[in-house]
Amino acid sequence: MNDRIRTDIAHNARVWNYWLGGKDNYPVDRAVGDQVTGFYPSIGEVARADRAFLGRAVTFLAADAGMRQFLDIGTGLPTADNTHEVAQRAAPDARIVYVDNDPIVLTHARALLTSAPEGVTEYVDADAHDPEKILAAAGATLDLSRPVAVMMLGILNFVLDTGEARTIVRALMDAVPSGSHLVLTHPTLEPELGGEGNKAAMAFWNENATPPITARSRAEIASFFDGLDLLEPGILSCSRWRATDEEAPVVAQFGAVGRKP
Ligand SMILES: C[S@@+](CC[C@H](N)C(=O)[O-])C[C@H]1O[C@@H](n2cnc3c(N)ncnc32)[C@H](O)[C@@H]1O
Repeated sequence: MNDRIRTDIAHNARVWNYWLGGKDNYPVDRAVGDQVTGFYPSIGEVARADRAFLGRAVTFLAADAGMRQFLDIGTGLPTADNTHEVAQRAAPDARIVYVDNDPIVLTHARALLTSAPEGVTEYVDADAHDPEKILAAAGATLDLSRPVAVMMLGILNFVLDTGEARTIVRALMDAVPSGSHLVLTHPTLEPELGGEGNKAAMAFWNENATPPITARSRAEIASFFDGLDLLEPGILSCSRWRATDEEAPVVAQFGAVGRKP
């Protein structure tokens, strides 16, 4: 086993995999996952809504917005409909770079590297706190002088300092040209999304699992889109972003897409 993999403490990528019904997790992940569900019963729905948002956003970007390059930071363990599968269904020549810092995601990365022959997928083992390293590595596969969809789904919540999170987003979006997009999901405590339940769940998480997490307000999430044009319908429950099912339950996870003018 990779000696960076710890089985004595729950890891986010593995617990997320558990909530999504995957098998790439350990007893400690399942125990913590179940305890978090006890505090916040709809957490599994959040994970599924987040993945469904990924599907709709990437399909829109590849099929309608002409995006051919995707930088997916905080990829997670391979699951159904990974970014390259969704993007290449619409655009087989799409190029995807995945980035995560969890050692178990690295060991499963092969499953992410199954590109359509016309396109390419690459995996980078790097930390979101180091956008320069990410850009340098991504530049080997992506042409950063052409538009890139920068995807940060459920990842900025692991950058605890909001100022630093903004700096990271800025560094990434400054490095890509007009026509690039920022795709974001992020948990919140906002009551309008039923986020109060996240509070005890996150407190429990931060005492028992890794890495530590934070929630953000609508205003804080809006600040990540400063200088970008927010696409309709703006910042809302990710389950409702361009949802085909208008009855989809609201979840305490914002989703939004912005375009660099
Ligand atoms: C909640 S999962 C989201 C996975 C996927 N983006 C999705 O939306 O389904 C967050 C992922 O971010 C990764 N992650 C957490 N902190 C990170 C960091 N500092 N740098 C890179 N990846 C990180 C975790 O390992 C995990 O795979």
